Amino acid sequence: VPSPLVDRFGRVHTDLRVSLTDRCNLRCAYCMPAEGLDWLPKAGLLTDDEVVRLVSTATRRLGITEVRLTGGEPLLRRGLPALVARLTALDPAPELSLTTNGIGLARCAEALREAGLSRVNVSLDTLRPERFAALTRRDRLPDVLDGLAAAHAAGLAPVKVNAVPVRGVNDDEIADLAAFAVERGYRMRFIESMPLDAQGAWERDRMVTAEEILDRLGRRFDLVPVERQDHAPAEEWRIAGTDARVGVIASVTRPFCGGCDRVRLTADGQLRTCLFATEESDLRALLRGGADDDALEAAWRTALAGKGPGHAIGSPEFRRPDRPMSAIGG
Ligand code: GTP
Ligand code: 5AD
Ligand code: SF4
Repeated sequence: VPSPLVDRFGRVHTDLRVSLTDRCNLRCAYCMPAEGLDWLPKAGLLTDDEVVRLVSTATRRLGITEVRLTGGEPLLRRGLPALVARLTALDPAPELSLTTNGIGLARCAEALREAGLSRVNVSLDTLRPERFAALTRRDRLPDVLDGLAAAHAAGLAPVKVNAVPVRGVNDDEIADLAAFAVERGYRMRFIESMPLDAQGAWERDRMVTAEEILDRLGRRFDLVPVERQDHAPAEEWRIAGTDARVGVIASVTRPFCGGCDRVRLTADGQLRTCLFATEESDLRALLRGGADDDALEAAWRTALAGKGPGHAIGSPEFRRPDRPMSAIGG
């Protein structure tokens, strides 16, 4: 039985987010500039063997039970279904999920399901084609909608839809997005934007707060609170008289760091104990230096011992992490 990954605040970490690439095929304005970023060199990325090795250490020795694949855009990773199959064949196997922008999902949803993927979260900030093109700087709304439908049909359920409302950009669509999701059996979640964009342009006043989001939703729907799942970033409500759920992820105005159960691995093999961590542990160097499982486990536990209490957004001590969201994996 693996001994749990505990930090000095007693938080037990069972959830690992693994970024498979820092690249993306969209250019969401709240995330990165139109020209993209200086992507990590290919040779720096963990190989499939290295990802499998680290996840295997995590499930066998550290008590990690849930793994989420992230990016950038993880569907850009070559041979993803094969990697998914290797991860779900581990003993113990993690429950495996994926966060994607949905482009290309229509083509691979079935293969991912067959490889053992449990579910997907898909980002979608607007239902209007011109607005989608302006916001993401790519005219690909139909691909995302097809991807959502394919994931649902493949049984990658529950399909969750993530939207980041930005004031004056798409905040007038909050109730429409929820209605769209409810109609199709997806779970809609609205996310408070965090100061993690590559440009450093985040402004608190442009962030739409959970309170505002709930106000908009409350005007269209009769919301019944759902008891929060332990450690879940999302707070959820059921729409009265239905099974449909909507949620908010209020990282800024209602932080949930006290219940954090997450660790993160970047595409270049750096272990991060927090989305907002200012330090990383170089697991790639250990791997490539021939480290055995004992050494990897020790590095992981040492890193966790240094995990801070959480982010300090809004306080004078707040420091942005050195990498943007797209290179961390969200
Ligand atoms: P579920 O297991 O389906 O609930 O996934 P999730 O909501 O944790 O993951 P997803 O990748 O869909 O992330 C949705 C939003 O929550 C993104 O904006 C993430 O950056 C944010 N998020 C996820 N985990 C954390 C976290 O530990 N801390 C903070 N502050 N935000 C997080
Ligand atoms: N703040 C909050 N959420 C963000 N996302 C991307 N950038 C940010 C940000 N700065 C969202 C994406 C996706 C999810 C993984 O994170 O829209 O839905
Ligand atoms: Fe955990 Fe850091 Fe997210 Fe807080 S900000 S919930 S500590 S990862």
